[in-house]
Amino acid sequence: MGKKGRVFSGARPTGRQHLGNYLGAIRNYVALQDDYDCVYCVVDLHALTTLADTEYLREHTYEMVLDWLAAGMDPGPTIIFVQSHVPQVTELHTILSMVTPMGWLARLPTFKEKVRQQPDNVNYGLLGYPVLMAADITLYQADVVPVGEDQGPHLEFTREIVRRFNHHFGDTLVEPEMKLTDVPRVLGTDGVNKMSKSLNNHIELATSPEEILERVMTMVTDPARQYRTDPGHPEICNVFHLHQHFSPDAEAIVQIEADCRSAAIGCVEHKQWFARDLADYFAPFRARRAELAADPDHVWEVLADGAVRARVIAAQTLAEVKEKVGLP
Ligand code: AMP
Ligand code: TRP
Repeated sequence: MGKKGRVFSGARPTGRQHLGNYLGAIRNYVALQDDYDCVYCVVDLHALTTLADTEYLREHTYEMVLDWLAAGMDPGPTIIFVQSHVPQVTELHTILSMVTPMGWLARLPTFKEKVRQQPDNVNYGLLGYPVLMAADITLYQADVVPVGEDQGPHLEFTREIVRRFNHHFGDTLVEPEMKLTDVPRVLGTDGVNKMSKSLNNHIELATSPEEILERVMTMVTDPARQYRTDPGHPEICNVFHLHQHFSPDAEAIVQIEADCRSAAIGCVEHKQWFARDLADYFAPFRARRAELAADPDHVWEVLADGAVRARVIAAQTLAEVKEKVGLP
């Protein structure tokens, strides 16, 4: 049976993936393989916009792709590649930049946040980050883009650029749709901020059961529960929210909810329970990851093969774009 269309997503090489990446994006990367032709990209050029990362690019690429494969990404049907291995994206980026109003870029909340985070390195690439992302998506003519909620403004930007391009030069690029999971924004162990490596409030998928327990024990719960006997409010507790996605038993969650409200279960006990379920949930993942890691060349072979296949699609789109734009 034919597939419904093409999926594309990218992620910066941040190394081992965390529960935020998993619940917000990776679960969809894997699930969408059933119905779509999928293309997944390690966006190493995007990573250069924050220069602090660059000495680890190789190692972080390896660790991230190992996680993707262990989570069920299948390099048979699915194309997995590194952005800079398909240089056509930089050419499309330049062409798209000509239909991008400066004001749109400077207004994006993601840009403003970066300016706050790295005031000494507000480079041109940072401003153009969403244009390069639009080039990623449109180079592969993606219909659907699975991402976490934080990428919403970038997706909306891409859609606007596509409309502008098509309006100027005639129907050429596909306007993509954003695809969220049922948990589009995962909070970190602090219970307040988005889970992210840079805030060190994350839990990695590949981590050992001991480390999972250690991390989970630091999680912030309902602040109203000062004493073991204080009744809790599971609806505002991140341990409770996360536990729902990793419990093998839906009834247990109903019980925990009631026992937290009546203070029949304490936070420490609940955290230990959650840590056990989390460690068990990812046991097959850890085993598969160790198997894959036994052949250190495997990841690089997958990426080399992916680049060859990605270039075929990229060359086609770029040729069409150049013709429509009128480049001789
Ligand atoms: P990043 O590691 O920031 O490049 O993100 C890779 C993918 O994971 C993107 O689709 C993000 O939107 C998603 N993601 C990262 N952190 C979270 C989070 N805390 N909650 C939900 N999705 C996330
Ligand atoms: N901006 C995305 C992030 O920070 C990464 C990304 C780059 C991307 N190009 C993309 C995501 C294309 C989806 C599609 O996570």
